[in-house]
Order: sequence, then structure tokens, then C-alpha cells
Amino acid sequence: MIQFLLNNELRTEHSLDPNLTVLNYLREHLHKSGTKEGCASGDCGACTVVVGELETDAQGEDSLRYRSLNSCLTFVASLHGKQLISVEDLKHQGKLHSVQQAMVDCHGSQCGFCTPGFVMSLFALQKNSAQPDSHKTHEALAGNLCRCTGYRPILDAAEQSCGKPQPDQFDERKTQTIARLRSITPTQTGELNDGDKRCLVPQTVADLAQLYEAHPQARLLAGGTDLALEVTQFHRPLPVMIYVGNVAELKRIAHFDDRMEIGAATPLTDCYAALSAEYPDFGELLQRFASLQIRNQGTLGGNIGNASPIGDSPPLLIALGAQIVLRKGDTRRTLALEDYFIDYRVTARQESEFIETIIVPKAKAQRAFRAYKVSKRLDDDISAVCAAFNLHVEDGSIVDARVAYGGMAAIPKRAAACEKALKGAPWTSETAERACQALAEDFTPLSDFRASKEYRLLSAQNLLRKYFIELQTPTLQTRVTAYV
Ligand SMILES: Cc1cc2nc3c(=O)[nH]c(=O)nc-3n(C[C@H](O)[C@H](O)[C@H](O)COP(=O)(O)OP(=O)(O)OC[C@H]3O[C@@H](n4cnc5c(N)ncnc54)[C@H](O)[C@@H]3O)c2cc1C
Ligand code: FES
Ligand code: FES
Repeated sequence: MIQFLLNNELRTEHSLDPNLTVLNYLREHLHKSGTKEGCASGDCGACTVVVGELETDAQGEDSLRYRSLNSCLTFVASLHGKQLISVEDLKHQGKLHSVQQAMVDCHGSQCGFCTPGFVMSLFALQKNSAQPDSHKTHEALAGNLCRCTGYRPILDAAEQSCGKPQPDQFDERKTQTIARLRSITPTQTGELNDGDKRCLVPQTVADLAQLYEAHPQARLLAGGTDLALEVTQFHRPLPVMIYVGNVAELKRIAHFDDRMEIGAATPLTDCYAALSAEYPDFGELLQRFASLQIRNQGTLGGNIGNASPIGDSPPLLIALGAQIVLRKGDTRRTLALEDYFIDYRVTARQESEFIETIIVPKAKAQRAFRAYKVSKRLDDDISAVCAAFNLHVEDGSIVDARVAYGGMAAIPKRAAACEKALKGAPWTSETAERACQALAEDFTPLSDFRASKEYRLLSAQNLLRKYFIELQTPTLQTRVTAYV
């Protein structure tokens, strides 16, 4: 059984196909058709809903956190213990919500198809940012597509509704909602099944480890932003899933003098603050990772677990010398992330083993870390090439070099020949050029619809040249990541 609040209404679900997305649940089961399906693959934002979750601070005080999500990529079981708000819930006592009224006043709605998604993204923005600047507004709306170029009035609507928001029904009911969510906070493993297929929802890491040993064939579900596509795009229903997103131990970030330990199920938006404080380039790359909706639900563990050669975080983490803790039952082992990826989508993970923690070393003054993403669009696009450089230069000589790329091989990979050309050499343009040439020994990239193999290799070399120029010319350190 799983339980959640549908706005104010308590819903208890026992027998539903766990492959059911929140989008189809709303539209087909509850006949709430305000939430639209545009792409069913996380690209358009028409299906945006807002999910409220309890957050407990160090003093034990609970607060409510609202996040925008793509309901087309969210399975219903992941709502266990949370509050789901869809566009139908915004109008109150016959009056439009202020974000809806602003869309009307500013003529922000043209076709109406994308509008519910924009409204929900604006609602989440209003709830999360006091007087958002244009950067915050763009970030909130980058995952919502308007095909009739109506962005100007939508941005005006954002300014009108989020500039000085008045309290709404959600603010008035906040204490009550927190109390209701507390009363349904799960204390033991939940389950959603239709007799045939099942999704288990453990609450502790010990329970997760035990369940995964008992069900080694299960697929781990974190944010679902990769996994759900198997169901929605490839029409391959998953017979057994274990949802890791309710395990509090997997959603913590712990800081030590020399490292950060990030729980594998930490959403990318939460990783952003920790990683960008230490490594501004990591932060900048995460800002260009998919859309806010995807970053709100997608996790760092899922990005590694997915083992895609074009996943954005692995090259950066490898260049930083990150490690992962793998757990099976009560047994843990720590592995350098670069040793985790073996071949295309083949990893060192054993049966019933899961990623528990990602260990990221803290920044050191003598090391220069930079990361670059090349993609066709600035927002919401997958990398053609992703590069990360981490050099230790002392008295003009390169003491150590870690260079890693995504999009250049079947796995995210260190560039061994390039590193060899750098290590021990003077940090000069000649050395950088030799290292660029060595990249041709390291990689034989493929051509696909994102980029040709020639473009990939040339981009990889040019990114290293860019890194060299940026380090030589501090005033040029614009922190701008590359895109075409
Ligand atoms: C529109 C769109 C845009 C995207 N843009 C980008 C982008 O710019 N950059 C990028 O890198 N990716 C992008 N992605 C891919 C995806 O969002 C990321 O890979 C994300 O980090 C996956 O995390 P998740 O929590 O959603 O993983 P899930 O989909 O839940 O899981 C992904 C895989 O990892 C496994 N897994 C999950 N947790 C664990 C664990 N703890 N241990 C072991 N295995 C685990 C799952 O079983 C599954 O096989 C995009 C996806 C979409 C739909
Ligand atoms: S339907 Fe397009 S993002 Fe969900
Ligand atoms: S108003 Fe809907 S696509 Fe532009």
C-alpha cells in the first residue's frame, strides 16, 4: 500500500500497475486532464506537476518543500508519503491562482497546450524564490517549451506573479499540510502492485539492502528520468522495481575536511549547492544538466548507475578522483569511479549491489579544475562531448594531471595518453598542443545524430586548448561552458 495527499485529499493505493506514470494516473484514473502529455520523455514540460515533501532540519523542525517534476517520468509509487499538486488544484474558491491570473493578464497563454506546465513551473518558482531574478526565472522555465514563441508574455507573467506574491491557500494550510504529511510518513516498506508487477518502497538503507538481496532481478528506481523511458518510450514494462528515493540515508550530503559524501539518491538540485560551492564549474555544468524538473527528480546515483557514455557527472567526478561506495547486504566496498565503468553500459556492480555514496574530494588550492559541455542547445540538451580537466601545476611544471571525457568512447573515460603528455612537462602551449594530439590515441569516437567523430575529436582538443588559455589568462576565466 502507498499513501499520499492529492492536494488535500488522502489517497491510498494498493493495486495499481507500478509502471503507471503520475501523468497517466491523473489523466486516465482520476480523469484530471489539465496536465498535458507533449512528449512523454521529459523534454517539453507540458506534464509538469508540483510535489511537496517534508524536510526536517537539524533541530528536528519540519518544513514543506515544493518541487516541479515531469509527471510523464514519475511513477506513482514515488509519491508515497508526499503531496501531489496538479494544475486543477490551483484555482481556489472560484478564483484563479495568482500565477494563472498573471498568465491571463499578460496574454501568456496562446495554444493552451503548454500552459498548464508553465503555470505549474511558475507556481513552484513562486513557492521557492522570493522575488526571483531573471536568471532564476529562466532556470524555472527552461524545461517548458512554447512552440509559438510566446516566451515574452510568459516572462512578464512570471514577473507579475512571483515579484510580490500574496499568500495563497497553500500558505494558509501549510501547518495542516505538514501535520497531515507527518501523519502519513511511512515507517515501513510500502508496496504498489497489480498482482503481477510490483514496486517496493523501503524507508531505510538496511531495508533496501535486504530487499535487493531478496529480489536481485529488481530494477532500482531513483528519479526515474532514465528508467521511466524504458516504459514510456520503449514500451518495456518493468516487473519489479525498488524505489530508493524515500531512503533518508541516501539523500544526505556530509561534509568532512577533505571530502564530501553524497548519498546516491540525492536529487541533482540538492547536489548543486554542495558541488558548486567547492567547484564552480561543476555547478555551472549542473545548471546546464537537463531542466529544473529533471534535476529536481534525477539523482547523482542515477546518473552514475545509468552508465551512459554521455552522462554529464561521471567525467567531472572521474577528473576529481571521486570514489563510490557500493553496498550489497551489509557488505560495502569502495571503488574509484573510473574503475566502475567497464564497457558500454557494463559496470563493476555485482548482483544486488547498489551505489550507496559518492565520495568527492574537496578542492585543493594548487589544483585547477574546469569542466566544459558541448551540446546543441544551452538548456535541456545532452552532451555531444563533455570534458573535465584537473591539473596540479607547481612552479610552471605539471605535477599531476587528471583528464576525463564523456561522449568520446563507450564509457566515460580518463585520457591516459593525454595525461602522460602532460605529467612532468612544463605547462606551456607546446605541452598543451602535444596533449591535444595525444587525445587521438586515447579516443576513437563514433558519429551519431549529436556529432560526427571528427567534430567530437576536434571539440575534445579545442576544449583542452580553451582550458590552457583560461588558466594562462585569469581575466579570461569567464566560466562560460562551450556549446555550438
Ligand atoms: C529530457 C532529459 C534530459 C536529460 N539531460 C541530461 C543531461 O543533460 N545530462 C545527463 O547526464 N543526463 C541527462 N538526462 C538523463 C538523466 O536525467 C540522468 O542520467 C539522471 O541523473 C538519472 O538519475 P535518476 O535518479 O533519474 O535515475 P533513474 O532513472 O531512476 O535510474 C537510472 C539508472 O540507474 C540505476 N540506479 C539508480 N539509482 C541507483 C543506485 N543507487 N545504485 C545503482 N544503480 C542505480 C537505475 O536502476 C537505472 O538503471 C536527461 C534525461 C531526460 C529525460
Ligand atoms: S510530456 Fe513532455 S515533459 Fe512530460
Ligand atoms: S502557448 Fe503553448 S506552445 Fe506556445
